[in-house]
Amino acid sequence: MSKADIGLIGLGVMGANLALNIAEKGHTIAVNNRSTAKIDAFVEAAQAEGLAERVLPEADLVAFVQSVKKPRSIIIMVKAGKPVDDMIEQLLPLLDEGDAILECGNSLFSDTQRRFDYLKPKGIGYLGVGVSGGAEGARHGPSIMVGGSKAQWHDAEPVLTSIAAKFKGEPCVAWLGEGGAGHFVKTIHNGIEYGDMQMIAEVYGVMRDGLGMDAAACAEVFKRWNEGPLNSYLIEITGHVLEAIDGESGTPLVDMILDRAGQKGTGVWSAIAAQQLGVPATAIEGAVAARSISSRKQERIAAEALYGKRQGKVDITIDDLEQALLAGKIVSYTQGFSVIASASEEQGWGLKLATIARIWRAGCIIRSRFLDQMASAFAGDAATNLLMVPAFATLMKEASPALRRVVSSGALGELPLICLSSSLAYFDSYRQARGTANLIQGQRDFFGSHGFEIEGRGADLHGDWPSLVEQAAE
Ligand code: 6PG
Repeated sequence: MSKADIGLIGLGVMGANLALNIAEKGHTIAVNNRSTAKIDAFVEAAQAEGLAERVLPEADLVAFVQSVKKPRSIIIMVKAGKPVDDMIEQLLPLLDEGDAILECGNSLFSDTQRRFDYLKPKGIGYLGVGVSGGAEGARHGPSIMVGGSKAQWHDAEPVLTSIAAKFKGEPCVAWLGEGGAGHFVKTIHNGIEYGDMQMIAEVYGVMRDGLGMDAAACAEVFKRWNEGPLNSYLIEITGHVLEAIDGESGTPLVDMILDRAGQKGTGVWSAIAAQQLGVPATAIEGAVAARSISSRKQERIAAEALYGKRQGKVDITIDDLEQALLAGKIVSYTQGFSVIASASEEQGWGLKLATIARIWRAGCIIRSRFLDQMASAFAGDAATNLLMVPAFATLMKEASPALRRVVSSGALGELPLICLSSSLAYFDSYRQARGTANLIQGQRDFFGSHGFEIEGRGADLHGDWPSLVEQAAE
């Protein structure tokens, strides 16, 4: 019986599309799913695309595992969390030493690290694989961020390389580091995605509520921007979302969609990771907070009734908005890459920022022209803070005055710009040689004797502070 090059469990939208992509690239793939109806539907889809001869459907898990060539590479595409652990336990007795599980969902990197550590002594490879690009990406070329067992990565490399998106012929896939490295990088990718989306939404809010533009006029602007330095997948789809018309009412669809954003967790994980590492990531944090505020629709309605409608007037141009978005984006990516650099150091992953920027240039949700510039900026791995890279410093010097105009005008016009304003605040904090933490240190010492430092006099010094209790008693 012919053996499959690779196996895949979990034929949901992403799993099915990845499997079709693999078959299309000439590999034989064994597929399995808990519900046999999904297997049947997948076989039908494969037949419709003329790929059925490279698909081995196996409803029985034992037969499925046996149908994959050794050393086996088995992709699991099940819901993150307990279902992944359950699947690992089911597979474990069926696998042989040297086989590998490739988990391709959006898993928490510490879970991936735990699973990697658990399977390593058993001789089973574990790869935590971040796959970005949504359903279309999975089908036609995603960006693939691989972490975990390096030896087993090489077994799966030909298949993953063939299905990955290509940027000027270069495949957007790489093994990035041991353990949870791949899922960590995917998580921060999503945090950056949150920042990009939120800043775009903020700029749209200025156009709609500050400049009185309708959806069609906003769409035109985004289409134009997509031809310039902001060229990216998210700017492109924003143009399409804004121009779509609801068939039933004939009004722009975007005006009918409820202003309440969902979130599945990766943005929050990014913000938590940044905080735990002590890396400021205000753009990601702002984007997560904005989604949380958006979900409190009833509270916002009550607050608007209490405080009145915002006056919403701004004194800025469309060009200002384009430059502001560019500056905000530079800050957001600076923060995201700093989080990755810091995690890499803490975990000993040896992540290469240039490689990460390179595999984000095509296939993934944050793909953009900008990432090509970043890949060059990080080449040689000399820099970890983009703001200090000459090419980006020049861009920032040019674009930050517009960001300042947009943020200040937005504040006066009562338009919320959580992400853009926090990006500007980060920039201004980062570039000030003398900040205000001297006062924080004074306060900490006053109430808690935490000590402070004076250059030339040493650290852990204390002030001769007055006692407020004694003063009150006098
Ligand atoms: C991707 C996306 C993908 C998914 C997000 C959505 O890279 O392809 O990031 O992973 O669309 O998880 O996340 P939220 O539901 O949290 O917005």
